[in-house]
Amino acid sequence: MEAKLKQLQEEAIEKIEAAEGLKELNDIRVAYLGKKGPITEVLKGMGKLSAEERPKMGALANEVRAAVTERLEEKSEKLEKEAVNKKLASETIDVTLPGRPVRKGRKHPLTKIVEEIEDLFIGMGYSIAEGPEVETDFYNFEALNLPKGHPARDMQDSFYITEETLLRTHTSPVQARTMEMHKGKGPIKVICPGKVYRRDNDDATHSHQFMQIEGLVIGENIRMSDLKGTLQVFAKKMFGEDREIRLRPSFFPFTEPSVEMDITCKICGGKGCSVCKGTGWIEILGAGMIHPNVLEISGFDSKKYTGFAFGMGPERIAMLKYGIDDIRHFYTDDVRFLNQFQTQE
Ligand code: PHE
Repeated sequence: MEAKLKQLQEEAIEKIEAAEGLKELNDIRVAYLGKKGPITEVLKGMGKLSAEERPKMGALANEVRAAVTERLEEKSEKLEKEAVNKKLASETIDVTLPGRPVRKGRKHPLTKIVEEIEDLFIGMGYSIAEGPEVETDFYNFEALNLPKGHPARDMQDSFYITEETLLRTHTSPVQARTMEMHKGKGPIKVICPGKVYRRDNDDATHSHQFMQIEGLVIGENIRMSDLKGTLQVFAKKMFGEDREIRLRPSFFPFTEPSVEMDITCKICGGKGCSVCKGTGWIEILGAGMIHPNVLEISGFDSKKYTGFAFGMGPERIAMLKYGIDDIRHFYTDDVRFLNQFQTQE
């Protein structure tokens, strides 16, 4: 019996040493130390032994069990360690590897032009005012000296929502709102950028939705020369120091006198080409001295206060500045177009 136990011990230890995984090890544990295992089997034969031999065999059997258990534990610890090391090795991260480049979004060319224009006027002491795109007939027309039935309303074909509300056709209602907020007291110096809507058929130069930037200055002794000087600074900063401006008489119901501003054509340098239609000049905005009626409707004393306003289309400015030939490029989000305006902003 002693020999049998020793042999079982050796056999078990050999198998333990050879085991390659934790599951295999557990199988060995069950096979050798379990209730149905060979060691238990051998001990069943103890009854046949003499009284002196029995305790000796019992002790030996315990020794064998202890030895096998110890080896099992050692081996299982070793296998576990190996498994952890293997896992760590396979999951090693090389922190020195350069990362994948992150594709950054960038500003739309129209946003950039609007911000450029805003910055330019902020630099001249203006602040920014905004207003709703769904506007009342009052602010969009009536407060701007365009009573119901006025023929000039036809200049701005409108999207009406109800009889009294519409999608604003220009940013001038923000001018009326700002004046109302100031309760008859100057000075005011704001620009109002925003989206506007007109019932136009979309083509290379028209869009049913586009942007405008309105400028409004009100104070005591504001003169036409202030308007001209302001527009001159704007044109030169925006298009280059070599640009000249000219003001042509025009008509807007909310300004008197009204003008349109042209800048010299960059393409031909003023000699005349197809872009400027042979005139050497390109029209870029409308402006004028605030009509006394508009001042009075918004609560300003037109004897004390005067002012000027101007309105421009940033799309048109961008088209002239970058040589873009179709306004629809701004709204169709074609990356081939947008990628031409890559900068790190
Ligand atoms: N609101 C005018 C338009 O949309 C432009 C403009 C603004 C003209 C301010 C003069 C003064 O046509």
